[in-house]
Amino acid sequence: MTQNHFIPFARPWIGDDEISAVSEVLASKWISTGPKTAEFERRFAEYVGAKHALAVSSCTAALHLSLVAAGIGEGDEVITTPYTFTATSEAIGYTGAKPVFVDIDPITLNIDVDKISEKLTPRTKAILPVHIAGAPCDMDALIDICEARNLVLIDDAAHAIPTDYKGRRIGSIGDLSVFSFYANKNLTTAEGGMITTNSDDYAKIIKPMRLHGLNKDSWARQSNRSVWYYQVESQGYKYNMADTQAAMGLCQLMKLNKQIEVRRKYIQIYQERLGKIPEIVTPPGETHYCHSWHLYIIQLRTDQLKISRDEFVEAMRDANIECSVHYIPLHLFPYYQERYGYREGDFPCAEAAFERVVSLPLHLDLTAQDIHTVVDTISEILS
Ligand SMILES: Cc1ncc(COP(=O)(O)O)c(C=O)c1O
Repeated sequence: MTQNHFIPFARPWIGDDEISAVSEVLASKWISTGPKTAEFERRFAEYVGAKHALAVSSCTAALHLSLVAAGIGEGDEVITTPYTFTATSEAIGYTGAKPVFVDIDPITLNIDVDKISEKLTPRTKAILPVHIAGAPCDMDALIDICEARNLVLIDDAAHAIPTDYKGRRIGSIGDLSVFSFYANKNLTTAEGGMITTNSDDYAKIIKPMRLHGLNKDSWARQSNRSVWYYQVESQGYKYNMADTQAAMGLCQLMKLNKQIEVRRKYIQIYQERLGKIPEIVTPPGETHYCHSWHLYIIQLRTDQLKISRDEFVEAMRDANIECSVHYIPLHLFPYYQERYGYREGDFPCAEAAFERVVSLPLHLDLTAQDIHTVVDTISEILS
């Protein structure tokens, strides 16, 4: 069954334009935060339709700064999902607050908004949903809960560039939205992240906080006479983005719509062909939203199969096709059990999904023929 060439799970889409843009920044000798970062922020804000975009060193940093800006601290609780990468919840832990997990919807894999109210307490200060794979959460319901209880809505949009919800782009809806530009994301700067917000107040707090609480970033300092002068006005962090990263981000942003077009073409093949295999549940198609298709996650009907999900992933690997699994629910990790007292069995939908999910290869280094090969191989394994 092994086909000739290896089909990797993910690859960044890097071309000569990124290489020359980064080389130009290197040649300019201004390589850290500067004019490219400012331009990237302007264009990113425009792209998602937000008033402010603040570039940072990672989405984890973006989560941390957003939580701090929202006033989250020791003794507070933040409602979130156990079905995510540890960074989402880890950042809540940085502040001393507790991540209060709410189980997921078994089909969308996003937080089940109907189960949030039973977890609200007087200590709840914010809701931190994750748009898994790039499919938006039920933002209307989340906004209603937040407005009724005076909570801050910080959405983890690490996968959601570009995702539209009822005609509005993710990044322009929540109080604060955070994006990841990690190597495998739709838009990558190798490492990097962005916070978007329509609030002048949040932007004003976050801007200095990402660079040690200084009152001007170093490029602005360099541009006026008082080169050496700065003030420290608040608790800060070392979370700024470098111009080398921003230069790459600008190129990636310009190519993003083209990239999504190709992803959609591949998704159409996956959806049409895999939708006909009874042992597979394909992700829901787009209805009131546009998916970023960062990940393509199928669910195996393991009750109808002779092999487990792990055996399926192994069989794909033996056939030279790399798959992944998103996610191991956080409450199953020793750290979350020891620090917060979570236990296996606490979130049955997340656990059931974890046993069934497989993320299939999806990136721009693949051809349509590769996608057909993935489907052919799946059909062979399942038969
Ligand atoms: C849902 C989610 N949130 C946050 C992060 C953290 O992103 P970063 O690596 O940019 O800090 C990731 C990373 O993959 C993620 O998948």
